[in-house]
Amino acid sequence: MKLSPLAKSLIQSAVFLLIVAAVALTSVAVHAATPAELLSNYSAQAGSLAVPARGQQLFITRHGREWSCASCHGAVPTQTGKHASTGKPINAMAPAFNPERFTDAAKSEKWFRRNCNDVVGRECSAAEKADVLSWLLTLKP
Ligand code: HEC
Repeated sequence: MKLSPLAKSLIQSAVFLLIVAAVALTSVAVHAATPAELLSNYSAQAGSLAVPARGQQLFITRHGREWSCASCHGAVPTQTGKHASTGKPINAMAPAFNPERFTDAAKSEKWFRRNCNDVVGRECSAAEKADVLSWLLTLKP
């Protein structure tokens, strides 16, 4: 069978679109599995590089409200924190001290949303999440 140039280029475009769709679906289906991957996702969304010192500032500051992030996670979140209202222990936030941290994108997103709303009074931006995570990654034993 002889294909016209138009048919050929249509088939080529269709194959190309299928590949793009497959790549996009794979990256949605596979959660970022490491803190470094999560950080690069947030930085890419923000379109800027994370600044650890800014993340620390966000974490230890009370944003005109009752709590800071540190109220529950501790100002040095390398140790077990304590929930400011229930008193329940919260495992260390810094990935070097708690290998489960930031290994599940959906979980991290859920808690960023909830806790930023409580502490800052709105959701944190991608840049703010990148800043906080980049600071947490600087904390080493
Ligand atoms: C009132 C207490 C409280 C405050 C204040 C708080 N958190 Fe949390 N945070 C929790 C609890 C409870 C969890 C879930 C339990 C766990 O993961 O150990 C959690 C989990 C998280 C996680 C999930 C991390 C992961 O494992 O992926 C992130 C991210 C987080 N908090 C960020 C913040 C940030 C940023 C702030 C400040 C804007 C903040 N939290 C303030 C209680 C708090």
